[in-house]
Amino acid sequence: MGMAKVHDFKSGIYLTNEDFHEIKEIFHTPLTGSYNWDYTAADDKINRLYQLAKKRQWDVEIDLDWSQKWDKDKARLEDYGLAHQSYLGYEPYLSLSDEEKLNVQHKLAAWSLSQFLHGEQGALLVASQLCSCAPTYNAKLYAATQTYDEARHVEAFNKYIQTRHKEMYPITPDLKMLLNKILTDERWDLKFIGMQLIIEGLALGAFKAFPQTHPDKLLHQLIEKIIQDESRHVTFGIHYLEQHIKRLSEDEVEQRAEFAYQACLIMRHRFHPNEVFDDFGWDLEETIKYNDGIKARRDFQTFIFQRVIPSLKRVGLLTETVRPKFERLGVIQWEDFDDEDVNWKEAQSA
Ligand SMILES: [Fe+2]
Ligand SMILES: [Fe+2]
Repeated sequence: MGMAKVHDFKSGIYLTNEDFHEIKEIFHTPLTGSYNWDYTAADDKINRLYQLAKKRQWDVEIDLDWSQKWDKDKARLEDYGLAHQSYLGYEPYLSLSDEEKLNVQHKLAAWSLSQFLHGEQGALLVASQLCSCAPTYNAKLYAATQTYDEARHVEAFNKYIQTRHKEMYPITPDLKMLLNKILTDERWDLKFIGMQLIIEGLALGAFKAFPQTHPDKLLHQLIEKIIQDESRHVTFGIHYLEQHIKRLSEDEVEQRAEFAYQACLIMRHRFHPNEVFDDFGWDLEETIKYNDGIKARRDFQTFIFQRVIPSLKRVGLLTETVRPKFERLGVIQWEDFDDEDVNWKEAQSA
């Protein structure tokens, strides 16, 4: 039991300096930056997204009502929706008391929220790299607004976890590996593909589905705010890469398509709350196998790709070589998906 190092937070106390010392980690990156001396801001889609980003800034402290009541120990199991229902055929879960089941739900939610937080930190670091290495002036300005957006996302999830949920899991190894790859690759376009299209695209799917598995209204409002920003980030990636990828050689395109596929593969098959299963002494292989057998759970795993696959297609990375691989991954049905989401439409038409 208890392999994962979970941080517990007492009411209203943020991490101390000592905690930060203990968990910081160094990486080195061969970043290739560029100045751009042409300050002509073309009236293109990137500039319009930049203007939209400035108008849509929000404040974690002001625009969310942190005073609304929420007692996680009084939540009902049914309010955890799919997260509860999908375990109802699983013996180790069924044999628990209602109180213990609620504890499982708290831990599962803590795990997901923690991965959101760590992913947002990754996005913050990548976005700041994009300011340096994006080749055009408009993109540098846009990346600056994204960097600030990501800072607010980190702030929001961190505050939520520390003051409301009070439990934090470490980053899961596969997400960390993917972030490392994106942060340390010299090629700026791989950063765009990995972060803007794949991680943020998947996050959009996960953010949209998450409120159905959590009863706290404040969390729903917080996620809704973040979704607006993420829609813009993905749109930025699409507009920018669309032009760029057209100019690459066939070989270069295939390399990027394969990279995109590998990243999706990791997120499709290796993104499980193993650390939580471990905490309850559940056999990892058995639990994952059980989960994969649940239709609703498979549907969710597929659902989160609904933005990623059309994005890859649009920028020209759904090549003949990788297409069959995405088919085997079971996510190709999204390739022509057109989202009705208002935020998405607004970002797309900027
Ligand atoms: Fe974000
Ligand atoms: Fe983002």
